[in-house]
Amino acid sequence: MKVALFGGTGRTGQELLKQLLQKNIAIQALVRNPAHVKITHPLLTIIQGDVKNFESVFNTIRGTNAVISVIGYVRGSEAGFQSTALQNMIRSMEHLAIRRIIVLTGAGVPSPLDVPSWENDLLTWIIKTLAPARYSDGVNQLKLLEPTDLDWTLVRAPLLTNGPITTQYRVGYHRIGLFSRIARADVAHFITKILLENSYLRQLPLISY
Ligand SMILES: NC(=O)c1ccc[n+]([C@@H]2O[C@H](COP(=O)([O-])OP(=O)(O)OC[C@H]3O[C@@H](n4cnc5c(N)ncnc54)[C@H](OP(=O)(O)O)[C@@H]3O)[C@@H](O)[C@H]2O)c1
Repeated sequence: MKVALFGGTGRTGQELLKQLLQKNIAIQALVRNPAHVKITHPLLTIIQGDVKNFESVFNTIRGTNAVISVIGYVRGSEAGFQSTALQNMIRSMEHLAIRRIIVLTGAGVPSPLDVPSWENDLLTWIIKTLAPARYSDGVNQLKLLEPTDLDWTLVRAPLLTNGPITTQYRVGYHRIGLFSRIARADVAHFITKILLENSYLRQLPLISY
């Protein structure tokens, strides 16, 4: 299996690089600055470019079987860039007949299956108020994926930490509290697991402790 990875220099992305390679999954990673990739491995190919650029995204996805995106806002990110990136990925995948995509987003993206939680409503209100463009960018990703025929999974996470991998976490549409969190290493574990199992297709599972 070969995966196109977007966000491989990020904190979740570095965990994913490590865990995917441990499972002998080959990776083509699009990064803006190759010097920021700390790992070298025979199964890892680095492509330099920007997710906002269609050609860069297309060239990264070509020759792979699945796409994983853990890109996130960093200093200087343009509002709406995650949707632009996802549009580039979807267009490339449809052109190349590649079906599987896993995208990481925040717990504020709502699902009708969610257990109601005033705590999550409050956290979502805070994000919406402080960063409305980022919030709508997250929600828009679901709107982009739903009408496609792709085998998508939108993984939703509350606050991310740099804690160690535990492999023990809840997955589904459970209640999110004010202090819900999940380590990036466990997010990477879950993403690797559902990639290999081809599970949670066309779903938006929440993952937290
Ligand atoms: N932080 C949280 O508590 C939290 C909670 C829930 C969900 N999430 C979601 O989790 C995801 C990952 O979070 P994280 O903390 O692991 O992220 P992070 O460490 O901030 O990394 C962000 C990644 O996105 C990449 N990126 C940004 N703009 C790019 C562009 N234009 N072209 C190519 N790559 C670009 C960065 O590349 P460079 O190295 O080139 O900058 C970096 O690899 C995000 O989608 C976020 O929305 C975060």
